[in-house]
Amino acid sequence: MNSPTTIAIEDLTKPLTYPVEAFLSRDYALAEKEKLWPKVWQVAARVEELPEVGDWLTYDICDDSIIVIRGAPDRLKAYHNVCPHRGRQLVDVPEGAHSAKGNKRRNFICGFHGWTFDIEGNNSYILDPQDWQGALTPDCTHLSEVKVDLWGGWIWVHMDLEAEPVADFLGDAGRILSYFEMDKMRYKWRKWVVYPSNWKTALEAFMEPYHVAGTHSQLLAYGDYYAYSAAYGLHGVSGFDQRDPAFAMSQSSSVTRAGKGDDPRRSTYELIRENYETLNYAASTETLVNAASRLVDELPEGTAAADVIAHWLKSARADDAARGVFWPDIPPDVMAEAGLAWHVFPNMSVLQGITFALCYRARPFGDDPNMCIFESYAIERFPEGEEPVTEWEHAEPTAEGWGAVLAQDFSNMKWVQKGMKSRGFRGPLPNPHQERKITNFHRNLAAYMGTGAPRLLK
Ligand code: FES
Ligand SMILES: [Fe+2]
Repeated sequence: MNSPTTIAIEDLTKPLTYPVEAFLSRDYALAEKEKLWPKVWQVAARVEELPEVGDWLTYDICDDSIIVIRGAPDRLKAYHNVCPHRGRQLVDVPEGAHSAKGNKRRNFICGFHGWTFDIEGNNSYILDPQDWQGALTPDCTHLSEVKVDLWGGWIWVHMDLEAEPVADFLGDAGRILSYFEMDKMRYKWRKWVVYPSNWKTALEAFMEPYHVAGTHSQLLAYGDYYAYSAAYGLHGVSGFDQRDPAFAMSQSSSVTRAGKGDDPRRSTYELIRENYETLNYAASTETLVNAASRLVDELPEGTAAADVIAHWLKSARADDAARGVFWPDIPPDVMAEAGLAWHVFPNMSVLQGITFALCYRARPFGDDPNMCIFESYAIERFPEGEEPVTEWEHAEPTAEGWGAVLAQDFSNMKWVQKGMKSRGFRGPLPNPHQERKITNFHRNLAAYMGTGAPRLLK
């Protein structure tokens, strides 16, 4: 581990490479447990998962298990999942389960010697406390707290109680994404699987549309997938771009755009329908797909692409309003800057739309650099009272489990993990325009890890 630890953000525009130890080395994976995970904000759950006082769940990252509980109607608390007596995990997270959860919790009783804690983390019962000769103060018997913050409808946790607010951690990424009001969205579906690749290998499969031509070639019939990518401090964004800048238009950087073809009334519909159906009914909504299906009837032949998009969004917005789903007003410059999808450091990807988002996350699985826990979920704005009831669904990495497009992504990730081990692999050659999000990820990762910074190719 003696590669450089920094590179200037301006150098991300240049051709770069970075070492593969971050994906392959067990020592690197062990070092992440000290240098990365305890030092970043992480999503533990969506707020909607804990509506009532006493609702709780666990979030595990490597060896650390965290209990999040609603302690009061307006307050969430988080604790390390460990009993301060002899260190038994307070709440069991069964092997093979996504997480543990429950409702109406009034206290936590340790299964070993029965020490008990209220939902504020205070110790409320110790057998024979007099034996400690007065040494047991609340300081040593209280559950160890984890910092909690809310942003975008997510519950974020940080193991450092002195950590900056999550909005500061998110910086410009948070500022831009806040326009999408994701706190008003609710789960549509959520899936997870233990997958045979490093968590970064998995996450990076969703960080650039450069792979669409090679991996999802069926999509090329409906749209072009040339993309830009940009660093925003710790985080990064990518969006659709034109190979020829003369044709650039602001709406085209997001997933809501005209498709390819002579008649944008038809191509817009074909593109969105194909995306929606093969992305497991995510990255768009029923409303948008239905409104797109009417474009050919509602607009005259020859309508320009920009006018087709404007009409489509206006009628979808009206359809949604009629059923009680209200769109946020997002200024065009924000919409353009928001692009297609964000990498939220370190391990989350968010593809956002006006009323929906498709999110990915990858976490280490044990200490094995070749395994990860991979999750994906769709969130959407629903009329009040019509939010679907969802749970984490374990799904095999197939088209039946995740839709055709994700199955194609799964069919690369484990082979990337294998291929990077080849003696003949000289190191990644990320595209300096389209895969800058990934090199920015490694730039930031190196700053935490003290190793592995990208370096100039020449
Ligand atoms: S370890 Fe929890 S009560 Fe002893
Ligand atoms: Fe993909």
